[in-house]
This record gives sequence, C-alpha cells and structure tokens, in this order.
Amino acid sequence: MILRWRLSIAAICICAVLLGCDSDPVRRTCSNATALSGFMSEFKMVQHQLRGYFKVIDNCSFEVSRFDMLPGADVCWWGAVSPGFDDITAGFVISDDKLNKTYRNDSFVVSLRENVSLDQIGVVTVWDVQTESDFGYVVLPNVSEVTSAPSPGGEMEGTRVYGEPTMLENCRVLSGDYQLRWTLDVDRDFIEIGLEAATGMQNYMAFGWANPNATSDFMMGADVAVTGFTEEGLPFVDDYHITGYSECIINKDGSASGVCPDTIYEPNDPIGSVNNTEFLYGHRRDGVSFIRYRRKLSVSDNKYDLPVKYAENATVIWALGLMSPPDTLRPYYLPQNHGGEESVAFGHLVLNVSEHINDCLGPIDAEDKEDQDLIIVDANTQLVVTSDEALHYPNPPNPAKVLYINKKEAPVLRVERGVPVKFSIQAGHDVAFYITSDPLGGNATLRNMTEIIYAGGPDSQGVLTSPLELTWAPDRNTPDLVYYQSLYREKMGWKIQVVDGGLSDMYNNSVVLDDQLVNFYWTLSKSSISIAARGEKKSNYLAIGFGSGMIRSYAYVGWVELNGTAHVNTYWIDGQDASSVHPTNENLTHVRCRSENGIITMEFTRPIDPLCSHSDRPECRNIIDPTTPLRVIWAMGAKWTDGGLTESNMHSATSQRPIRVLLMRGSAEAEQDLRPVLAVHGFMMFLAWGILLPGGILAARYLKHVKGNGWYKIHLYLQYSGLSIIFLALLFAVAELRGFRTASSHVKFGITAIVFAFVQPLNAYFRPERPAAVEQSSSARVAWEYFHVIVGRCGIVFGLVALFTGMKHLGERYGGENVHGLDWALIFWFSISALSVMYLEFQEKRRQRERIFGSSDWVLGNSDDDETDLLSPTANGKDSLSLTTGRMEVQLEPLNR
Ligand SMILES: *[C@@H]1O[C@H](CO)[C@@H](O)[C@H](O)[C@H]1NC(C)=O
Ligand SMILES: *[C@@H]1O[C@H](CO)[C@@H](O)[C@H](O)[C@H]1NC(C)=O
Ligand SMILES: *[C@@H]1O[C@H](CO)[C@@H](O)[C@H](O)[C@H]1NC(C)=O
Ligand SMILES: *[C@@H]1O[C@H](CO)[C@@H](O)[C@H](O)[C@H]1NC(C)=O
Ligand SMILES: *[C@@H]1O[C@H](CO)[C@@H](O)[C@H](O)[C@H]1NC(C)=O
Ligand SMILES: *[C@@H]1O[C@H](CO)[C@@H](O)[C@H](O)[C@H]1NC(C)=O
Ligand SMILES: *[C@@H]1O[C@H](CO)[C@@H](O)[C@H](O)[C@H]1NC(C)=O
Ligand SMILES: *[C@@H]1O[C@H](CO)[C@@H](O)[C@H](O)[C@H]1NC(C)=O
Ligand SMILES: *[C@@H]1O[C@H](CO)[C@@H](O)[C@H](O)[C@H]1NC(C)=O
Repeated sequence: MILRWRLSIAAICICAVLLGCDSDPVRRTCSNATALSGFMSEFKMVQHQLRGYFKVIDNCSFEVSRFDMLPGADVCWWGAVSPGFDDITAGFVISDDKLNKTYRNDSFVVSLRENVSLDQIGVVTVWDVQTESDFGYVVLPNVSEVTSAPSPGGEMEGTRVYGEPTMLENCRVLSGDYQLRWTLDVDRDFIEIGLEAATGMQNYMAFGWANPNATSDFMMGADVAVTGFTEEGLPFVDDYHITGYSECIINKDGSASGVCPDTIYEPNDPIGSVNNTEFLYGHRRDGVSFIRYRRKLSVSDNKYDLPVKYAENATVIWALGLMSPPDTLRPYYLPQNHGGEESVAFGHLVLNVSEHINDCLGPIDAEDKEDQDLIIVDANTQLVVTSDEALHYPNPPNPAKVLYINKKEAPVLRVERGVPVKFSIQAGHDVAFYITSDPLGGNATLRNMTEIIYAGGPDSQGVLTSPLELTWAPDRNTPDLVYYQSLYREKMGWKIQVVDGGLSDMYNNSVVLDDQLVNFYWTLSKSSISIAARGEKKSNYLAIGFGSGMIRSYAYVGWVELNGTAHVNTYWIDGQDASSVHPTNENLTHVRCRSENGIITMEFTRPIDPLCSHSDRPECRNIIDPTTPLRVIWAMGAKWTDGGLTESNMHSATSQRPIRVLLMRGSAEAEQDLRPVLAVHGFMMFLAWGILLPGGILAARYLKHVKGNGWYKIHLYLQYSGLSIIFLALLFAVAELRGFRTASSHVKFGITAIVFAFVQPLNAYFRPERPAAVEQSSSARVAWEYFHVIVGRCGIVFGLVALFTGMKHLGERYGGENVHGLDWALIFWFSISALSVMYLEFQEKRRQRERIFGSSDWVLGNSDDDETDLLSPTANGKDSLSLTTGRMEVQLEPLNR
C-alpha cells in the first residue's frame, strides 16, 4: 500500500496541500468522539528500544509521550486487527506521519488518515514497512465491550493499561551505555529495578547499595544484585554480598570471600531467607540487555543484606564486566573483576530513590546490534536445516516456526565466494528452502517485489528420514548480503553474508579438531608455517596446543580485550594449575585475533624451527617437523589476561583427545583410545610368546629325564595352544585394523616370528624316524633336531622383539605414561624367566655331569648331547628314574650320590 503512495507522489503532494498536512497536528476537525477517548497504555517494546505512553484523544488522533525509539528504514503508524503474525502483516498504514528519526523522550500528537478511525482497529503498531518489522505496539480495548461497560459517559477517561515490564517510573544514567530504572512501592515494601546496558551477552550488570558507614571502598560490605544471561540465553538475577576485592573464592574450611552469592556464605540456609532478589523479566534486544527484578526494602538477614532507606540519600555502586560460567568447583555464575575505568566499567553515586528522576534521554544505541548466532561455513561444513519453535527470532513478528541451522535458531551464515555450501534440508514438506535476494522470502512475487533466486526452490524440501541435499556455490557475482528463506512462508530464515577470502581461501589446508568445535588451518612454506584457528562456540579466549595433553604442551592463546585490543600469546605448560602456564617468547609474525559474536579467530606465522641461541628455553624445543604428525589440542574459556593467571582463567570447554595433524598431507586423524581388541591382541600375544611357547621349549629341554613321555606331551600341548592363541590374536588385530600394514617394525617382527612358529609343527610332522634305542642317530635325524631347535628359539627371539615393538607402538599411539609401566612389567617378567632358565641350565649341566661320571645306571643313549633325542617319547624314559619335576630331582640328589 505504501508503495502505491510512493508511486503517486504528485497525488500525495496535492492532497497534502489541500489538507495542510504536517502544519497542524489536529488538521481534521474530528468531532467524532469515541468510547476509547482517554484510554492510556504503555507501549510494548518489541525491538528498536521502543518505549513510551499512548493516549487516545478522539477517534482520529492519539497522543504519544516520553517516546524512545531507534530509527528504522521506513517506519510508520500501522493498524491491524490483532498482534498475531498473520493479522499484523495484513495491516495497513493509519497515518501519514513518518517515524524517520531517533526519538528521545519525545511527545507529540498523531492524526489518523481521513478514512481511518481508531475504533476500526485492534492494535496500533510502529511498523517498518520494508522489513515488515514490529517495533512496538499498543492493544486497544474492544469498543463494543467498552460501551457496554457501565462507565460514566461511556468514555474511558483515566483507564490505564500499565504494567509493561520494560516501563519503570524513574531512570538514571550510570554510564554512557548503562541505565538504572526503578519504581518504588513503599506500601508493599519493595523496589523494582531494571538494569539496562549495551554490553555483551556474556557480561553481567551489577547494582546495589554500599555499606552506609563507608566513606571510601564502597564495594566492601556492599549488597548487590548481579544480573546476566546464562549460556543458554536465559536471564537471571542473584543476590551477592561483597567481602573482598576478588572473584568469589571458597576457602578450604568452606567459608567464602570475595564477590559471592549470599547463598555461598550460608550453604545450609533454608530456601530464600538470605536471597532477597526476585527475578521478574529479562530480554536481549538490539544488542542491549535488560533485566528487571524486585527486592524488598527491609531485610530479613542483617548479615548479607542492607535495608534500603528509601527516603534518604544513599550511596549505590554499579559495575559491568565479564562473568565466569559455573564449573564443578563453583556451580554459580560469578562476576569477574570489572577492570576498566571508573564511571565506564564501574562507579558509585548518591541516590535518593524516592525522588522522581528521569535523566535518560533516549534509547541505548548499541554499536553491535546483531545477537544472532554466527555460523562460518567452510568447504567441509555440513549445514542441517530444520524448523522449530521460534524463541528469539531477530525480526519480529514472525511465524510460530522458523528455520534452524545446525540447531541454532535463524543464525547468520557467513559463506565465501568460491567455496560451495552444502545444505541438508530436513525442515518438513511445508518448507521449501531457497536462497534469495529478498529479506523476507515467502515468494516475493506475491508481494509485487522482484527477487533473484540463487539456489533452491519449490523442490528443496525434505524430512529427517529423506533429507534433500542442496549445494550452492556463491560466486563473484553473488552480492554481499543474501537471505535463506522458505518459499511458502515469509520470515522463517535470516541473513547470509558473502565474503571474499575467508580462512579456507587463505590457507592451503584445514582440518576440524576434536569435538568439531575448532577449525585448524595451515599453510606450510620452506621455513615457516602459517596457522589459523577458529572456535565454533562462543568464548572469550581460544587456545590451541601442540602436545598430547595440556601437560607438556606449547600453547597459543588468542583473546580480545573489552576495549578491542587483540592478543596472541605463547606458553609452555607443565602442569594442571595456573602457575604451570609459563609465558614464552616465540617469534610470531602476522599475528591477528578477532572476535565476532563471541567466535574467536586467531592467526599467526611462526618459524618451523625456532633457531634460538638460548636452547635452554622451552620454546626453543618447540620445533615443528612437517613429516611427523603434529598433535593438536584446544581449549576455550571465559577470560585470559596478559599478566598473572589465576584459576579464573580455567577453560570451560576443551578437547577430549588430541588430533594428529599430518601437515604434509593435509589431513588429520583422531588419536584413538586404546581399543579393547588391540589390548586383547597384546595380552594374547604375551600369553603365547611370553609363557606358553617358552614354557614348551623349557619342557623339552629340562624335563626329558621325566619318566614316560610326559615332557613330550607338555611340549606338544603348550606349543599347540600357543600357536592357536597366536593365530586368534593375529586375526583380532587384522580384523580391528582392517588388514595388514607391513610398514611398522612391529608387524615385520611379528610376521617373522609367526612364520617361524608355524614352521615348527610342519617340520615336526615330517621328522625322520628316530632310530632304535642305543644306536647312533641317523644324520638326517640329527640335522632335523638341530633345525627344529634353532628355528624354535629364533621364533621366540623374534616374538619377544615383536612384543617390545608392540609396546613401543602402543606408546606412540596413546601417549607414553601408561605404556612405560607395561614395558617395565614385561622386562621384569623376562628377567625372572631368564634367571629361572639359568638355574635350570645349571641343574641340567650338573645332572649330566653326574650321569657321565656318576655310578648310576643313567648312561644311556646320547648322553653327551641331550638335544639329539629331543622328541622321542621313548628315548630315555624307560630307564630313567621316576623324577617328575626339577624340584623332586633336587630332593633326590642325595640318593643319586
Ligand atoms: C462518527 O463517524 C462515523 C463515520 O466515520 C459516523 O458513521 C458516525 O455517525 C459518527 N458519529 C458521531 C457521534 O459523530
Ligand atoms: C521526517 O519526516 C518529516 C515529515 O513527516 C520531515 O519533516 C522531516 O524532515 C523528516 N526527517 C528526516 C530526518 O528525514
Ligand atoms: C554502621 O555503623 C553503626 C554504628 O557505628 C552500626 O550500628 C551499624 O551496624 C553499621 N552498619 C553496618 C552495615 O555495618
Ligand atoms: C533467589 O530467589 C529467586 C526467587 O525469589 C530464585 O529465582 C533464585 O534462584 C534465588 N537465587 C538463589 C541463588 O537461590
Ligand atoms: C541528598 O543529596 C543532595 C545532593 O546530592 C542534596 O541536595 C540533598 O539535600 C540530600 N538530601 C538529603 C535528604 O540528605
Ligand atoms: C509465486 O507467486 C507467483 C504469483 O502469484 C506465482 O506465479 C508463482 O508460481 C509463485 N511461485 C511459487 C514457487 O510458488
Ligand atoms: C504490482 O504492481 C503493478 C504495477 O507496478 C500493479 O499493476 C499490480 O496491480 C501490482 N500487483 C499487486 C498484487 O499489488
Ligand atoms: C586496552 O586495555 C589495555 C589494558 O587493559 C591497555 O593496555 C590498552 O592500551 C588498551 N587499548 C586501547 C586501544 O585502549
Ligand atoms: C623473528 O623472525 C624474524 C624473521 O624471521 C626476524 O627478522 C626477527 O629478528 C626474529 N625476532 C626474534 C626476536 O627472534
């Protein structure tokens, strides 16, 4: 409708001249009194910091007073049947007056158009026609209800609809971007306070009363309320008491000091007796936080709360600053030191809350009004499009359901020209996703607008079970700002920023680090490496580290201070606590760090080899070898500083495990947890090579003199069970790793050992017949026996080497600490075994000596070389003494002598 007006400017001008537009506020004699006359209401703020009072004069004019508003594109007075999305979008312009500036506590009268009267409409709205945005509105009472109500004269003189949470009686400017609003209710013994500031969503707003006895150090002993938003975006308020100039610290004995919630001082407090703040309302609009709460004037606990002596001058204090999210030690949102300058970040003033004050001239105009989540799209980012209930859609009014991308409500997307964007559309069949030049979408042709469609259309719809994959490649002709929307309904999507040369354009390689929350980019050159890292989650610092854990890592921390100064610092970390983070002096160049909507990006270039002259400094050992995998970890947190680090700099999110980045190849792999199947492989191999096979060999060597063929059976059983276990363990490893990779020494040694091991039963099967007892062995038999023994022992040696290389492998893969213990256990086991063998050998030699020189009837067969009758079950069994074990042999020694 407004378009038609614009198209016929000449007509408007003539009309304006005839009616004398704008020259006289009440230009039309409107005798037509209405039942609504005298009705007063507060405006409901929707956006653009709109505040003010509305009063009906007569059926064709109304008065607006104390009106605040940030300017829009094409803002006018708009009438509709109801504030619902469909009704209000179908409304119409009701006045020729435009709202084309910033309003600061302004008062004026608005006349309606000739053909419009107030009793036709249900809601009066401040409306931006271009963006279909509702800035704020007043709902008018139903005229028929009013007239039927028994009020004198049928008029609503004095009828007030007050109680908007954004409206308070008084207002006082605390600093440029921070306002205090309040309403005092002495009769009901409370004061309602609204704190409003243009500050980050992660920041707190604090306000409270100083100890009345204090003349300086107003913070000490003060009773303050701390307000802010949780990480989920929910507003809250808590009652705090200040006992020290520090962040809240809980001492060993459980007592607390610093800026702590009242409930921390009294952990066993029955609910609510020390907590005298009550949350009423909170929102975040146009980059401005507003939180309204109520506190009692009198107090029930004298320890942590101060009474508000409302009729007197009192010193109040305030501050703005960063808030630490809860951690396991302190499950509270805790304000950090506000820092900054007095009367910018903190301050105090004398206030008498019973006086009427309004020195807030105009709305708070935040520099950064965009609060939406930002998704920076890389070549390997998959964007999942769904639809869900609208909670904080950036441009109300909006339909009940809007688009979500990667679970974020209507986020801003940032894409790069030349980098294809992949969408997986699963928002239901009633959403046809498309990318358009029109800010509202919903088939702009219907609104008589032209639009350019860049991707998508009526067919771009899908559901979870059959998502539609859509690829869009923004090119150099794509404008800087386009929109993703649904073709069937307006205002479901939001903005797409199209930029040149994002990180994936500037760096040759990129990988995603653990948990998909940090992207890591790099470009290698001959002597230096350029690195960039970007967090995908809101935070105040981003750290990446080279190492397999926080301990013994080289860390690079990027952060941006409140005043916009950006830093990237380097550290060597050798412990878990703040004191183990040692600043280093690495030679970084091309350093950049920036934070956009809490998303931190840092970039730097460093030499591959630091080439220090003082090689005793830890950073001199921070050499990057492009040919070996670089282990990269990350962390994010609430606050970082140049100077002394404390527990408050603890990270709030961190990688679960390092990622091994292959710098030359441009890829990465996760560092796996010790996979159980491989652990079983290791244990089984130890069982076979460390116990069963050597046991079998020992049985063959040292138990020959046992009566019967016992040693032979033992040898056979042990070797066969060893071989079967080896076979199974090998299958486990091959199955787990999906095939052989013979590159590693472990696999080479292992295979050799297994080949040796499996040669044994084969050659045992083909062994030449043992000649009859007493005779000399055939030479074939002797040769075979030597072969069998040598192959067996070589197998064991290779097996042992394979065990140790396996351990080394384990160490490389999963970090050294745990593996060292296992290494030592293995070495201990083999030392014990070697000692036992030496003892047995000694016994055996002595026995042989006795056999040769003694008087016993032992001298049989091949007494000088026991190995020649290795496998014969009958060789010397019959005639030997019935000794079953080495121990018994020892006991029987005296008999033999
Ligand atoms: C008010 O104006 C309407 C037309 O706009 C007319 O029908 C009605 O009779 C008028 N009422 C009075 C009281 O003048
Ligand atoms: C705003 O509109 C009024 C007429 O409604 C006009 O007089 C004024 O110059 C305009 N102001 C600006 C800044 O465009
Ligand atoms: C202030 O001082 C008075 C008297 O010196 C004392 O009674 C009162 O408890 C003090 N108030 C606080 C909050 O310390
Ligand atoms: C204080 O009380 C309010 C309700 O009165 C409650 O919402 C808030 O969680 C309480 N705060 C604490 C720290 O218990
Ligand atoms: C409060 O302070 C103001 C000046 O800041 C002073 O003019 C006024 O008299 C004081 N009122 C009381 C009750 O002390
Ligand atoms: C958009 O609206 C125009 C005009 O009504 C219509 O011709 C066109 O088919 C619509 N497009 C889609 C995709 O619905
Ligand atoms: C669209 O605009 C053209 C003229 O620009 C007009 O003739 C037509 O009626 C308009 N259609 C709608 C649906 O407003
Ligand atoms: C920002 O603050 C830091 C100290 O917090 C100061 O060193 C630096 O100079 C400030 N930068 C600007 C641009 O004000
Ligand atoms: C850092 O490296 C640059 C270029 O390699 C060199 O010019 C500069 O002297 C180095 N600075 C330090 C402190 O080593």
